[in-house]
Amino acid sequence: MKIQVINGPNLNMLGIREPKIYGSASYADLEHYIAESAAELGAEICCFQSNHEGELVARIQQCHGKADAIIINAAAYTHTSVAILDALKAVALPAVEVHLSDVSAREMFRRHSYPAMACQTVIAGYGFASYRMAIKYLLENSSTQN
Ligand code: DQA
Repeated sequence: MKIQVINGPNLNMLGIREPKIYGSASYADLEHYIAESAAELGAEICCFQSNHEGELVARIQQCHGKADAIIINAAAYTHTSVAILDALKAVALPAVEVHLSDVSAREMFRRHSYPAMACQTVIAGYGFASYRMAIKYLLENSSTQN
């Protein structure tokens, strides 16, 4: 199974940004963790990060015919982006939304997610392990389409 991981704005600042919420490990550490998890679980993984909404939309579109599933942490765009929701709906691939932090236990505005409306499930609050759980979920539910 080919899984595209898509990470949104400010995740490249992991290790520097708000360490009490996001921890002290870097974005490179996260990519390394995802690659190791994928190898262990038996999935092919490609990671992409951008601070730009249009680039995230373009990358989702590029998944059409190339990827089998998507894991998305749209970061702040989670709470604002109809464009990302529409892109996920357009490619209609099995998708899982992930977050490092427990967005349900933070500010009210973080409780709303646009991408979640095109995702099979949301996994949030487990730090890096949210991504591993998403890979597992997709491998176990691969026959289910959006
Ligand atoms: C985040 C949660 C978002 O609310 C926030 O804007 C982020 C990171 C997370 O992984 O916990 O940038 O997506």
